[in-house]
Amino acid sequence: MSFSKLIAPYFALSAIPAASAAFFYPNVQTSLVEGIFVDAHGAHATGFVDAVTPCTRYVSGAATVGRETAAQWVRVSFHDFVTHHTSDGSGGLDASIGFEADRAENAGAAMNDTIRFFRNRVNAKIGSADFLALSVSVAVQNCGGPIIPVRAGRIDATGPGPFGVPAPTTTLNDTLSMFGGAGMSQSDAITLVACGHTFGAVHHGVFPDVVGPDAITPNNTAGGVNFDDSPAVFDDHNVHAYIDGTGAKGGTLVTTPNVTSQSDLRLFSSDNNATLLALYNEQGSFVNTCATLFQRMIETVPSNVVLSDVITPQTLKPVNSTLDFDTNGNLIFTGSIRVLSNESAVAPESLTHTTSLNSTALNITPEDEGGYSIYGNTTFYPFNQPISKPSAFTSFSVIGSGISSETFAVQAQTFVVPSASSNSESEDGTVTVSFTVAVLNSSTAPIVKVSIPVVQPNTFGPLVEIFNNVAVTAAGTKAGYSLFTGSVSAGVWTHGTTEVAIVNGSGNELDVLMVV
Ligand code: HEM
Ligand SMILES: *[C@@H]1O[C@H](CO)[C@@H](O)[C@H](O)[C@H]1NC(C)=O
Ligand SMILES: *[C@@H]1O[C@H](CO)[C@@H](O)[C@H](O)[C@H]1NC(C)=O
Ligand SMILES: *[C@@H]1O[C@H](CO)[C@@H](O)[C@H](O)[C@H]1NC(C)=O
Ligand SMILES: *[C@@H]1O[C@H](CO)[C@@H](O)[C@H](O)[C@H]1NC(C)=O
Ligand SMILES: *[C@@H]1O[C@H](CO)[C@@H](O)[C@H](O)[C@H]1NC(C)=O
Ligand SMILES: *[C@@H]1O[C@H](CO)[C@@H](O)[C@H](O)[C@H]1NC(C)=O
Ligand SMILES: *[C@@H]1O[C@H](CO)[C@@H](O)[C@H](O)[C@H]1NC(C)=O
Ligand SMILES: *[C@@H]1O[C@H](CO)[C@@H](O)[C@H](O)[C@H]1NC(C)=O
Ligand SMILES: *[C@@H]1O[C@H](CO)[C@@H](O)[C@H](O)[C@H]1NC(C)=O
Ligand SMILES: *[C@@H]1O[C@H](CO)[C@@H](O)[C@H](O)[C@H]1NC(C)=O
Ligand SMILES: *[C@@H]1O[C@H](CO)[C@@H](O)[C@H](O)[C@H]1NC(C)=O
Repeated sequence: MSFSKLIAPYFALSAIPAASAAFFYPNVQTSLVEGIFVDAHGAHATGFVDAVTPCTRYVSGAATVGRETAAQWVRVSFHDFVTHHTSDGSGGLDASIGFEADRAENAGAAMNDTIRFFRNRVNAKIGSADFLALSVSVAVQNCGGPIIPVRAGRIDATGPGPFGVPAPTTTLNDTLSMFGGAGMSQSDAITLVACGHTFGAVHHGVFPDVVGPDAITPNNTAGGVNFDDSPAVFDDHNVHAYIDGTGAKGGTLVTTPNVTSQSDLRLFSSDNNATLLALYNEQGSFVNTCATLFQRMIETVPSNVVLSDVITPQTLKPVNSTLDFDTNGNLIFTGSIRVLSNESAVAPESLTHTTSLNSTALNITPEDEGGYSIYGNTTFYPFNQPISKPSAFTSFSVIGSGISSETFAVQAQTFVVPSASSNSESEDGTVTVSFTVAVLNSSTAPIVKVSIPVVQPNTFGPLVEIFNNVAVTAAGTKAGYSLFTGSVSAGVWTHGTTEVAIVNGSGNELDVLMVV
């Protein structure tokens, strides 16, 4: 069916109740980002946090190279951020760094490693720039630091941005003007560097004029010399070593005999060490000062970007909850309820749930294996319920001992059918998304939007190709729904989830399926 044929009957769809993208709560993006933090380990883990667990881990190569993924993530976000210009609102966290990996000012494997790690995780709801922000928060909290609040909604750049990352040889004046251009004062700049250089190392392989070849050993082949004695802990050891003149004395960017490369010494002593002394005296709260400044860094975005609210853990969360048809063609409502618990709030033995259709409470019991993260333990309660009268299915409620019950809005007027939607990859790497959508009691096809993450040149970051008003073909009926099928082929797939969305005439999403 063509686009023009669809225009007239849009009014039929406008009667759909305004449920926020049903089945992801409170919306798709928030639900997915929350899962990265809360579903960290164990059953149904999203796997992101594993890359920095333990914190010494290098996920992009052999451990003997002597690199650290957590440190790389923080450095890469700094390099992406610092070319923001407050003067015109351009740049900031937009993943333009992916196009800038070969610049001398971004030397090292970190830019490629990081953007490539995000590659098969990027989808229409979380781009590379949001992953950069997430990664800073994950790295810091997973390495003993505080929780840095995260917002989503960044927009990925489609090409490289301006130059302007300070290097060890950059003059103090130029360094301060680069930070200043990005909105950071002299003391902000000093603090930000002191906070960043508690992690990781300077590598001979990257900065041979700072670190000599003697740093290379069989299990440190890149020749890394750590900034302090705890390179995988987010702490103030580097600050203390600098002021006290002990240990690594603040690191090789302070102590290198190559005076032009003593960038940390130049910056730290540019206010007669006043900022470093103040940080030294903060003791335990140093990391909180850093968290606040890191949050400012990751929230420095191009001025056209509107960030979401801060994303917080959800105690009661429907996961993978959706309508579908079973093998007999009956409508079912399936998914899991995830309960987040801690020592003082234990997960119930069972939950009950009711729907707006039927007040009889159904018992649901948990899976044997749960998950865990720094936020607590998760227990998953799968459910699968026939829906006899979809027109009256507008909400469901979850009740459990010791947890506050919650009611979630649903809309059953139209949905993407999970069991009849899939991705297929051709031998040349291109992907085709095939889908079925269902509309209750109407022969009018819904408006379908498909989003597919594909390879683009000059960066490991994917481009999300968006196909609006995808043509669909009538494909019979099931359980009172008219079915329509369609398919879209795109470029070389990065293996991120594709997305099939049903939208209304204004582009608002009525139902979204993330296709694995
Ligand atoms: C004047 C500003 C800065 C200069 C000149 C500078 C310079 C450097 C250099 C030369 C390295 C070694 C990279 C390698 O050999 O792999 C490094 C590493 C690092 N930098 Fe900076 N940096 C600056 C500011 C910052 C800031 C503001 C942050 C964070 C907010 C940061 C975070 C890091 C981290 C985490 C590492 C360790 C990376 C790893 O171990 O792979 N840097 N920096
Ligand atoms: C689409 O949904 C939004 C949000 O519910 C609503 O404000 C808008 O009026 C709807 N547009 C149409 C054409 O139905
Ligand atoms: C949700 O779906 C994803 C993708 O199929 C799967 O990996 C995950 O384990 C599911 N989660 C739950 C709680 O069923
Ligand atoms: C980054 O990856 C690209 C593509 O493989 C490669 O051409 C480039 O040399 C890499 N850059 C660095 C600094 O590793
Ligand atoms: C300091 O930097 C600014 C901006 O980069 C530049 O205009 C100015 O000439 C520099 N001053 C000195 C003394 O280098
Ligand atoms: C490197 O190997 C040496 C000798 O096997 C060992 O003593 C040392 O702890 C290792 N260092 C790291 C960082 O793994
Ligand atoms: C110091 O480092 C600079 C920049 O990398 C380099 O040009 C210079 O040769 C080095 N000087 C010495 C004495 O090693
Ligand atoms: C700042 O502290 C460092 C390290 O203790 C010291 O080498 C340097 O001379 C101090 N600079 C100033 C201006 O006080
Ligand atoms: C964990 O316990 C604290 C203290 O009782 C409580 O305030 C908090 O809401 C609990 N969190 C979750 C996720 O259950
Ligand atoms: C998570 O579960 C483990 C194993 O049952 C338990 O030891 C631990 O105390 C739990 N942690 C929280 C925060 O509930
Ligand atoms: C409500 O659900 C119960 C339990 O599944 C079932 O026995 C009953 O027939 C349902 N009532 C209606 C009106 O659907
Ligand atoms: C379809 O619409 C008709 C007329 O509005 C109604 O009587 C019927 O119950 C509806 N069927 C379903 C499955 O909702």
